[in-house]
Amino acid sequence: MNNVTFYTPIQEQILQVEDRMRAQGADCHPDLRAALDHLLAAGGKRIRPTLGLLVGNMLGGASETLVTLGAAVELLHTATLVHDDLIDGALLRRGSETLNARWSSAATVLTGDFLFARAAKLAADVDYLPVMQLFAETLAVIVNGELTQLFSARGVINRDNYFQRIYAKTASLFEMTTRAAAMVSVDNAAAIESFRKFGYELGMAFQIVDDLLDFTGEQSAVGKPLGSDLLQGLVTLPAIYYAEMNPDNPDVRSLAAGGWGDHERMERLVQAIRASDAPRKAMREAEQCVERALANLLPFEDREERAALENLARYVVDRKI
Ligand code: IPE
Ligand code: IPE
Ligand code: MG
Ligand code: MG
Repeated sequence: MNNVTFYTPIQEQILQVEDRMRAQGADCHPDLRAALDHLLAAGGKRIRPTLGLLVGNMLGGASETLVTLGAAVELLHTATLVHDDLIDGALLRRGSETLNARWSSAATVLTGDFLFARAAKLAADVDYLPVMQLFAETLAVIVNGELTQLFSARGVINRDNYFQRIYAKTASLFEMTTRAAAMVSVDNAAAIESFRKFGYELGMAFQIVDDLLDFTGEQSAVGKPLGSDLLQGLVTLPAIYYAEMNPDNPDVRSLAAGGWGDHERMERLVQAIRASDAPRKAMREAEQCVERALANLLPFEDREERAALENLARYVVDRKI
């Protein structure tokens, strides 16, 4: 991770973001504090606060405000992962045991709630009402998206449905981060809109690649369970491409008819998708999102932060973790 150059301009600020996150465990039950320490120690790429810091620094925003915003966003992200892993029954995250692998569901849900509350407090500490509104709105989009996925997305082989889902669960938070970082830094609607679009496209690319890694990733590098989306009936872009190319494949038909509970079939489908052209096509689509994202940076002066944002955007599609 340290050889990824986009971290260089914000190294110090990311340490401050982590300190702010760690400080949220003061004055709470020792088990809650231990859980927070465990989550922080496991690391993570810190992509969202990195994005916010680079955008805000580029626009001349105040460092303290950007650090607070970064901590709010990363803690919100952490809270969604705590609940997501419980919902998915995932035992591994960032190469470490998840909370639900160690604790009861009750304790895990409550820890997630605590993190949401602390994230909201940090968002309020940004001290700018439109950012707080955006934060609350984004959290609602994420939760509504997770619930929609839970109740009515399984076995659905449909592009629009897919893009709506990845917007809700991932791109909405990227979009919020870059937009809010711009909002607290400049009073210029066109610039804010450029960075909103930049975050949106990057978030879409990020989730497409996450879904690709579920098929083609290296388990030890990714640090979370792979090959699992289809087994849960979650149809992502590689599977959509494969289904479009092979509409009469019996395993594809079975998936669409609710047959994802048949592990043998789904394992076979995963292998077939891996061996097909579908992953390359999905990657091409992620690359197109990145190209669209980058177009929004062109009007801005080519400073160190712009180069770092371009570097980060390319990393989103090149990453192995
Ligand atoms: C994982 O996000 C959840 C998704 C939205 C795909 P990241 O890949 O950013 O997770 P960490 O924070 O680096 O572990
Ligand atoms: C999780 O998406 C996104 C949220 C937590 C809202 P995924 O389910 O694809 O994330 P991973 O693959 O478990 O990290
Ligand atoms: Mg998950
Ligand atoms: Mg995933």
